[in-house]
Amino acid sequence: LETLLAPKDFQGRRLLISAGPTREAIDPVRFITNPSSGKMGYAIARAAAMRGAVVTLVTGPTALTLPADVTCVPVTSAAEMATEVLERLEDADIIIKTAAVADFRPATAASRKVKKETADLNLPLERTQDILKALGERKGGRILVGFAAETHELDRFAAGKREAKNLDMIVGNLIGGADAGFGADTNRATFYFKDGRRETVDLMTKQALAHLLLDRVGRLMR
Ligand code: CTP
Ligand code: CA
Repeated sequence: LETLLAPKDFQGRRLLISAGPTREAIDPVRFITNPSSGKMGYAIARAAAMRGAVVTLVTGPTALTLPADVTCVPVTSAAEMATEVLERLEDADIIIKTAAVADFRPATAASRKVKKETADLNLPLERTQDILKALGERKGGRILVGFAAETHELDRFAAGKREAKNLDMIVGNLIGGADAGFGADTNRATFYFKDGRRETVDLMTKQALAHLLLDRVGRLMR
């Protein structure tokens, strides 16, 4: 019923969405990751498909059911996500990056399990590629949307990321508390636009926020 009632304002638009965390291997049985559940990205994928978009979802490991009517590309590491996302840039009109990409990975992953008897484990880490920044450099006329989860100074950091990554819009979430951010079913968001405008919306479900976000993207399309 929800699908029938949804406006078809994204008919024929090609949306590329990234969601979930990434995993950076330490050895075959250990990895570095973060608490991203993937719920926000999956909600956007579902909402966009309902509104007529052709949706591709590049997703890190999550416990969620893959949304129907969406092409899903499962990935594990930040490097894999970068490859799969950048490869699909050409075929997208709109790119929305909700993924919580790991910023650091072990400089080398051990091919065999590291035994705890050996010693304390010291891990040299190296930076992963900033996928969104790479997209911003190549976006052309495409609409590019990012997310920023911050524990403090949301306005400053989110607006700074929007600018630095050449985004049309960034969605800022102040995390902390059970009702917003990682793992929650609801979210609190502020939208930051290119023209310097910002808009804070009330606490709502991630599904409702997905539709609200798509309304804003729809306005950027015109
Ligand atoms: N992002 C990305 N590739 C990365 C890191 C982040 O594409 N290697 C994207 C995220 O998907 C998100 C946006 O960049 O849409 C902002 O991510 P965030 O972690 O808030 O910002 P960072 O630039 O990584 O800065 P920091 O973590 O230091 O705050
Ligand atoms: Ca980061």
